[in-house]
Amino acid sequence: MLKKGKRVLFTEGVLNIRSVGAVAPTGRFVARAMAPEIKISDPPKIIVELGVGTGSITEEIVKRLRPEDRFIGIDSNKVLLQECKKYIEPMARDRFVCVEHADAQNIKHILKAHNIAMVDEVICTIPFRALSARETKKILAQVDDVLVSGGRFVFIRYLIAPATKEVFRALHNFTVVKKKIVMSNIPPTEVITMRKG
Ligand SMILES: C[S@@+](CC[C@H](N)C(=O)[O-])C[C@H]1O[C@@H](n2cnc3c(N)ncnc32)[C@H](O)[C@@H]1O
Repeated sequence: MLKKGKRVLFTEGVLNIRSVGAVAPTGRFVARAMAPEIKISDPPKIIVELGVGTGSITEEIVKRLRPEDRFIGIDSNKVLLQECKKYIEPMARDRFVCVEHADAQNIKHILKAHNIAMVDEVICTIPFRALSARETKKILAQVDDVLVSGGRFVFIRYLIAPATKEVFRALHNFTVVKKKIVMSNIPPTEVITMRKG
Protein backbone atom coordinates (compact mmCIF):
# COMPACT_ATOMS: atom_id res chain seq x y z
CA MET A 1 0.00 0.00 0.00
CA LEU A 2 1.20 3.53 -0.75
CA LYS A 3 1.03 4.80 2.85
CA LYS A 4 2.85 8.01 1.96
CA GLY A 5 -0.10 9.13 -0.18
CA LYS A 6 -2.46 9.08 2.80
CA ARG A 7 -1.69 12.57 4.09
CA VAL A 8 -1.93 14.16 0.64
CA LEU A 9 -5.25 12.48 -0.12
CA PHE A 10 -6.58 13.52 3.30
CA THR A 11 -5.63 17.18 2.73
CA GLU A 12 -6.91 17.27 -0.88
CA GLY A 13 -10.04 15.35 0.13
CA VAL A 14 -10.86 17.85 2.90
CA LEU A 15 -10.14 20.84 0.64
CA ASN A 16 -12.00 19.47 -2.41
CA ILE A 17 -14.38 16.85 -1.05
CA ARG A 18 -16.82 17.13 -3.98
CA SER A 19 -14.29 16.43 -6.71
CA VAL A 20 -11.99 14.06 -4.79
CA GLY A 21 -14.84 12.15 -3.13
CA ALA A 22 -12.71 10.58 -0.36
CA VAL A 23 -10.35 11.50 2.47
CA ALA A 24 -8.42 8.23 2.52
CA PRO A 25 -6.99 6.00 -0.20
CA THR A 26 -8.93 2.87 -1.12
CA GLY A 27 -7.77 -0.12 0.92
CA ARG A 28 -5.73 -3.06 -0.31
CA PHE A 29 -8.64 -5.55 -0.52
CA VAL A 30 -10.71 -3.27 -2.73
CA ALA A 31 -7.63 -2.45 -4.82
CA ARG A 32 -7.01 -6.18 -5.36
CA ALA A 33 -10.67 -6.80 -6.23
CA MET A 34 -10.46 -4.05 -8.87
CA ALA A 35 -7.16 -5.16 -10.42
CA PRO A 36 -7.26 -6.29 -14.05
CA GLU A 37 -7.52 -9.89 -15.24
CA ILE A 38 -4.21 -10.59 -16.99
CA LYS A 39 -3.17 -14.17 -17.74
CA ILE A 40 0.33 -15.03 -19.03
CA SER A 41 -1.16 -16.40 -22.26
CA ASP A 42 -3.32 -13.30 -22.95
CA PRO A 43 -2.49 -11.08 -25.94
CA PRO A 44 -1.10 -7.62 -24.98
CA LYS A 45 -3.65 -5.62 -22.99
CA ILE A 46 -4.39 -1.93 -22.62
CA ILE A 47 -5.73 -0.90 -19.22
CA VAL A 48 -7.14 2.52 -18.33
CA GLU A 49 -7.73 3.81 -14.80
CA LEU A 50 -10.02 6.80 -14.19
CA GLY A 51 -9.37 8.69 -10.94
CA VAL A 52 -5.94 7.35 -9.95
CA GLY A 53 -5.67 9.63 -6.88
CA THR A 54 -2.49 8.78 -4.96
CA GLY A 55 -2.31 5.41 -6.72
CA SER A 56 -3.58 2.76 -4.31
CA ILE A 57 -5.35 0.88 -7.13
CA THR A 58 -2.73 1.88 -9.69
CA GLU A 59 -0.13 0.03 -7.64
CA GLU A 60 -2.11 -3.23 -7.87
CA ILE A 61 -2.61 -2.70 -11.62
CA VAL A 62 1.05 -1.94 -12.34
CA LYS A 63 2.17 -5.03 -10.36
CA ARG A 64 0.20 -7.21 -12.77
CA LEU A 65 1.35 -5.62 -16.04
CA ARG A 66 3.59 -7.55 -18.41
CA PRO A 67 6.14 -5.68 -20.59
CA GLU A 68 3.79 -5.97 -23.59
CA ASP A 69 0.80 -4.37 -21.78
CA ARG A 70 0.07 -0.66 -21.61
CA PHE A 71 -1.45 1.40 -18.79
CA ILE A 72 -2.90 4.92 -18.93
CA GLY A 73 -4.11 6.53 -15.70
CA ILE A 74 -6.12 9.77 -15.60
CA ASP A 75 -6.87 12.18 -12.74
CA SER A 76 -8.11 15.77 -12.65
CA ASN A 77 -6.24 16.62 -9.42
CA LYS A 78 -2.62 17.64 -10.05
CA VAL A 79 -1.47 17.36 -6.41
CA LEU A 80 -2.72 13.77 -6.07
CA LEU A 81 -1.24 12.86 -9.43
CA GLN A 82 2.21 14.17 -8.47
CA GLU A 83 2.11 12.03 -5.34
CA CYS A 84 1.04 9.01 -7.40
CA LYS A 85 3.85 9.53 -9.93
CA LYS A 86 6.50 9.56 -7.17
CA TYR A 87 5.73 5.94 -6.24
CA ILE A 88 4.35 4.50 -9.46
CA GLU A 89 7.02 5.59 -11.92
CA PRO A 90 9.88 3.75 -10.12
CA MET A 91 7.65 0.63 -9.91
CA ALA A 92 6.95 0.70 -13.65
CA ARG A 93 10.51 -0.16 -14.74
CA ASP A 94 10.31 -1.55 -18.32
CA ARG A 95 6.50 -1.38 -18.50
CA PHE A 96 4.41 1.24 -20.33
CA VAL A 97 2.86 3.25 -17.48
CA CYS A 98 1.59 6.76 -18.10
CA VAL A 99 -0.45 8.92 -15.72
CA GLU A 100 -2.09 11.98 -17.21
CA HIS A 101 -3.48 15.14 -15.61
CA ALA A 102 -6.86 15.43 -17.34
CA ASP A 103 -10.61 15.10 -16.96
CA ALA A 104 -12.00 11.65 -17.61
CA GLN A 105 -14.53 13.46 -19.83
CA ASN A 106 -11.67 13.52 -22.41
CA ILE A 107 -10.68 9.84 -22.39
CA LYS A 108 -10.84 9.50 -26.18
CA HIS A 109 -8.67 12.55 -26.72
CA ILE A 110 -6.03 11.28 -24.26
CA LEU A 111 -5.98 7.82 -25.79
CA LYS A 112 -5.69 9.30 -29.28
CA ALA A 113 -2.53 11.15 -28.22
CA HIS A 114 -1.09 7.69 -27.43
CA ASN A 115 -2.38 6.24 -30.74
CA ILE A 116 -4.85 4.09 -28.85
CA ALA A 117 -8.41 3.63 -30.14
CA MET A 118 -9.68 0.69 -28.08
CA VAL A 119 -8.82 -0.66 -24.61
CA ASP A 120 -9.39 -3.94 -22.75
CA GLU A 121 -10.32 -2.70 -19.28
CA VAL A 122 -11.44 0.51 -17.60
CA ILE A 123 -11.05 0.66 -13.82
CA CYS A 124 -12.82 3.61 -12.23
CA THR A 125 -13.11 5.24 -8.79
CA ILE A 126 -14.45 8.59 -10.01
CA PRO A 127 -17.14 9.88 -7.61
CA PHE A 128 -19.99 10.07 -10.15
CA ARG A 129 -22.31 11.51 -7.47
CA ALA A 130 -20.16 14.65 -7.42
CA LEU A 131 -20.45 15.16 -11.18
CA SER A 132 -23.43 16.49 -13.09
CA ALA A 133 -25.60 13.95 -14.93
CA ARG A 134 -24.25 15.37 -18.19
CA GLU A 135 -20.58 14.87 -17.19
CA THR A 136 -21.25 11.36 -15.92
CA LYS A 137 -23.03 10.47 -19.18
CA LYS A 138 -20.15 11.89 -21.21
CA ILE A 139 -17.58 9.77 -19.36
CA LEU A 140 -19.66 6.59 -19.56
CA ALA A 141 -20.44 7.08 -23.27
CA GLN A 142 -16.72 7.24 -23.94
CA VAL A 143 -16.06 4.19 -21.76
CA ASP A 144 -18.56 2.36 -23.96
CA ASP A 145 -16.92 3.65 -27.15
CA VAL A 146 -13.34 2.77 -26.22
CA LEU A 147 -13.89 -0.65 -24.61
CA VAL A 148 -13.50 -3.67 -26.87
CA SER A 149 -16.38 -6.12 -27.04
CA GLY A 150 -15.98 -8.39 -24.00
CA GLY A 151 -13.92 -5.69 -22.23
CA ARG A 152 -14.41 -5.04 -18.49
CA PHE A 153 -15.58 -1.92 -16.69
CA VAL A 154 -14.86 -2.09 -12.95
CA PHE A 155 -16.15 0.57 -10.54
CA ILE A 156 -16.96 1.04 -6.86
CA ARG A 157 -19.90 2.06 -4.76
CA TYR A 158 -19.70 3.02 -1.09
CA LEU A 159 -22.34 0.98 0.74
CA ILE A 160 -23.52 4.06 2.64
CA ALA A 161 -24.42 5.73 -0.69
CA PRO A 162 -27.47 4.92 -2.82
CA ALA A 163 -27.06 2.57 -5.82
CA THR A 164 -25.27 4.12 -8.82
CA LYS A 165 -28.21 3.74 -11.23
CA GLU A 166 -26.76 6.09 -13.85
CA VAL A 167 -23.92 3.64 -14.59
CA PHE A 168 -26.31 0.76 -15.33
CA ARG A 169 -28.53 3.09 -17.37
CA ALA A 170 -25.67 4.42 -19.50
CA LEU A 171 -24.01 1.01 -19.91
CA HIS A 172 -27.24 -0.91 -20.63
CA ASN A 173 -25.40 -3.08 -23.17
CA PHE A 174 -23.05 -4.34 -20.41
CA THR A 175 -23.66 -7.31 -18.08
CA VAL A 176 -22.77 -7.33 -14.39
CA VAL A 177 -20.44 -10.31 -14.04
CA LYS A 178 -19.27 -9.87 -10.45
CA LYS A 179 -20.11 -7.96 -7.28
CA LYS A 180 -17.86 -8.08 -4.23
CA ILE A 181 -18.50 -6.33 -0.94
CA VAL A 182 -15.42 -5.40 1.11
CA MET A 183 -16.64 -4.58 4.63
CA SER A 184 -13.10 -3.98 5.93
CA ASN A 185 -12.66 -0.95 3.67
CA ILE A 186 -13.33 2.50 5.12
CA PRO A 187 -16.06 3.12 4.11
CA PRO A 188 -17.33 -0.41 3.29
CA THR A 189 -17.33 -0.69 -0.48
CA GLU A 190 -18.85 -2.76 -3.25
CA VAL A 191 -16.71 -3.53 -6.31
CA ILE A 192 -18.87 -4.02 -9.39
CA THR A 193 -17.47 -5.63 -12.54
CA MET A 194 -19.34 -5.31 -15.84
CA ARG A 195 -18.54 -6.85 -19.20
CA LYS A 196 -19.40 -5.22 -22.53
CA GLY A 197 -21.60 -7.17 -24.90
C1 LIG B 1 -12.47 8.52 -4.46
S1 LIG B 1 -10.95 9.19 -5.13
C2 LIG B 1 -10.13 7.66 -5.50
C3 LIG B 1 -8.63 7.80 -5.57
C4 LIG B 1 -7.86 6.49 -5.71
N1 LIG B 1 -8.17 5.80 -6.95
C5 LIG B 1 -8.16 5.56 -4.56
O1 LIG B 1 -8.96 4.64 -4.78
O2 LIG B 1 -7.63 5.77 -3.47
C6 LIG B 1 -11.53 9.78 -6.72
C7 LIG B 1 -10.48 10.35 -7.64
O3 LIG B 1 -11.13 10.73 -8.86
C8 LIG B 1 -10.58 11.97 -9.29
N2 LIG B 1 -11.57 12.62 -10.17
C9 LIG B 1 -12.76 13.15 -9.82
N3 LIG B 1 -13.41 13.61 -10.90
C10 LIG B 1 -12.61 13.35 -11.97
C11 LIG B 1 -12.73 13.57 -13.38
N4 LIG B 1 -13.81 14.16 -13.90
N5 LIG B 1 -11.72 13.16 -14.18
C12 LIG B 1 -10.61 12.56 -13.66
N6 LIG B 1 -10.45 12.33 -12.34
C13 LIG B 1 -11.43 12.70 -11.50
C14 LIG B 1 -10.27 12.73 -8.02
O4 LIG B 1 -9.32 13.75 -8.20
C15 LIG B 1 -9.79 11.60 -7.11
O5 LIG B 1 -8.40 11.43 -7.20
